[in-house]
Amino acid sequence: MRNINFDNLTENVIKAYAGTGDPRKKEILTLLIQRLHDFVRDVNLTPQEWEDAIGMLTRAGDITTPERNEFILLSDLLGVSALVDLVDGREDVGATITTVMGPFYTPGTPELPNGADLTGDNEGERILVHGRISNGDDAGVAGAKIEIWQNGPNGLYTVQDPTQPEHNLRGVLHADDDGKYSFTTAKPVPYTVPDDGPGGELVRAGNRHCWRPAHIHLMISAEGCKRHVTQIYNTHDTYIDEDAVFGVREPLVVDYEQVPTDEEQARFANIKGTWNIANVDFILAPG
Ligand code: BEZ
Ligand code: FE
Repeated sequence: MRNINFDNLTENVIKAYAGTGDPRKKEILTLLIQRLHDFVRDVNLTPQEWEDAIGMLTRAGDITTPERNEFILLSDLLGVSALVDLVDGREDVGATITTVMGPFYTPGTPELPNGADLTGDNEGERILVHGRISNGDDAGVAGAKIEIWQNGPNGLYTVQDPTQPEHNLRGVLHADDDGKYSFTTAKPVPYTVPDDGPGGELVRAGNRHCWRPAHIHLMISAEGCKRHVTQIYNTHDTYIDEDAVFGVREPLVVDYEQVPTDEEQARFANIKGTWNIANVDFILAPG
């Protein structure tokens, strides 16, 4: 390796890692080196541009804490997180499309009965979300576990906001024997992803914005099914077609403004006050 030059560098770097023991790691590393080198050649990356990029990554490292990971945000803002999810689901024919998990999930949320009201002391309009969870055979998935999390009326998730109760607007439910589920909650609001770090620099460079349309996160787990990570969006949302992190999928967009029919009012007669209703069914992939 004494005579490294423009023409043979890439093959020599790949050869240097040829002893990578784990075959999958070797496959990833080989293609990563090839594509990274191709990228540098194709854009004629200058030393100054390389330094700028390293500076951005360094600032991402400086700002990253256990509660906030700027590298994940960069992945989100570049559509890489969305792509990993789409690649993971692309062979799940017949299943409802999934979407990104985001950084605000936390385990350990208390279990609530199916049909629970998560509204608590949160102000704002309410929505009843209901539907059926089934598998590829169209059988209802009895007892499917549904973990729910969303932001509060101030746009923040409880994990970002010490003024909110620990489990505010979160809950874990189990579907009934037919796979049916329902819960009531305060309508979520649009919010911005953090813009005070390199993620914000990236968005401003692209003349974009940091807003995400309002959404409710769900993670559905059941024996014999692949874990299903999803979000429910509102068709009337200002940002529905310009999500900063590319998470919106057409089958997950519903009408948050729908008024319940008399039949639905009667079916959910235990709910007090005024509420809108959204029906969202999910088909899980086997796994
Ligand atoms: C979220 O939906 O919570 C989210 C997803 C990606 C980046 C930031 C937030
Ligand atoms: Fe979110």
